[in-house]
Amino acid sequence: MPNSIVLKKKINKFNKKITISGDKSLSIRWVLFSSLADGISIAKNLLMSEDVKAALNAIKKLGIKTSYKNNTCKVYGQGIDGYKYRKNITINAKNSGTLGRLILGLLINSPFKIKLIGDKSLSKRDFKRVSDPLEKFGAKFKLKNNKNLPLTIKGTKNLKPIEYFENLASAQCKSSVIFGALRTNGKTIIKAKKSRNHTEILCKHLKLPIKIKNKNKFDEIIVKKIKKIKPINYTIPSDISSSAFFIVLTILSKNSNLLIKNVNINPSRIGVITILKKMKASIYLKNKRFYKGEEIADLEIKSCNSLKSINCPAELNSAAIDEFLVIFLVAAKAKGVSSFKNLGELNQKESPRLEWGQKILNKMGIKTSVKNNSIKIFGNPNLKINKKIVIKDYLKDHRIFMTSVIAALSFGGEWSIHDKDSINTSFPNFLKIINKLKT
Ligand code: S3P
Repeated sequence: MPNSIVLKKKINKFNKKITISGDKSLSIRWVLFSSLADGISIAKNLLMSEDVKAALNAIKKLGIKTSYKNNTCKVYGQGIDGYKYRKNITINAKNSGTLGRLILGLLINSPFKIKLIGDKSLSKRDFKRVSDPLEKFGAKFKLKNNKNLPLTIKGTKNLKPIEYFENLASAQCKSSVIFGALRTNGKTIIKAKKSRNHTEILCKHLKLPIKIKNKNKFDEIIVKKIKKIKPINYTIPSDISSSAFFIVLTILSKNSNLLIKNVNINPSRIGVITILKKMKASIYLKNKRFYKGEEIADLEIKSCNSLKSINCPAELNSAAIDEFLVIFLVAAKAKGVSSFKNLGELNQKESPRLEWGQKILNKMGIKTSVKNNSIKIFGNPNLKINKKIVIKDYLKDHRIFMTSVIAALSFGGEWSIHDKDSINTSFPNFLKIINKLKT
């Protein structure tokens, strides 16, 4: 089992300062925006994970040169119409829903057919949610089973602006349509349920023609065609989703403290902090500042002896969407029954995560009940695991691997967790940082 990890012991107390790698959503967006810029864009601290490398390879396929040296990535943009490629190219989005969905928005004016493929996990995911609105602009799609990858897209020069109602709270769908609208003459109007807003912030920072009206539950976003994008020099802040594993490990460990510097705390991403604070966790946001429209802070976390259960408001779902698996671990240790509702979107991720969340908790000896996409978790503040647990066949979902490691180090037991290389998707340094906390 060379690609597995075996963990037999809880982590000892720690008091450390760590640095987490760059944010995945921002890294992919930087690559895509830079591919349209007029000139050379430079990023520092770009996340060099498989998802982001797939984004760099995708723009290379479209004729855009890139380079990487000394933690500095350069993209040599040729302007908004600067893609140059042959007929019948194939773009491989590998495991990345963000890359696969966002890039389609940029390809709606492609003169030739382009094939989009992905790995086993991505090939099971829903692409009709983006092909439907992009077809309304005028692009043509063919999807496997009418829904999945592989798909082909053929664009048109005759794009028409659209009105689109995004009601899944999916930032990927919203962003794909924003990209489409940036290529289209006229005014596209998007009414979108609140979700992460990095694309809109970057558009504003780049002074692109976008207007946003924040309503109570929705945002109204009006986008017009771009003429030019200037090069983007960006130092990518640390990823809150990757930080979440270490936040939870600290909360669940005894007498421990952790400082994580320079984390992106965009309000549309910090549902995990809001939820864990409601459960009485000690998380402090220090040294808050703004960087190119994104909010950044240093996070200070302390262990917590008495966690409280939560009846989690569904309005927080979108801002915590990638963190529910680790949040469930905190609920496992909290006093009382926690409930989380309307989590259907969790089963649309790299694996059916609501199902897997329940499976992991049950293997740990925690009682759960799942009904209509809601889960109740019966917490046990004295939880100690004394048995063998095997985690495998989970479609190599990086967040399942990392959640299982955190569970093993927090609650004990003998865990054998397969598919270690899944971390390369989003957080190649994950196990190195774990080892740093152990020494
Ligand atoms: C992302 C949006 C979310 C999130 C994903 C990254 C993005 O997906 O789960 O990890 O960068 O836009 P959905 O848009 O499908 O909710």
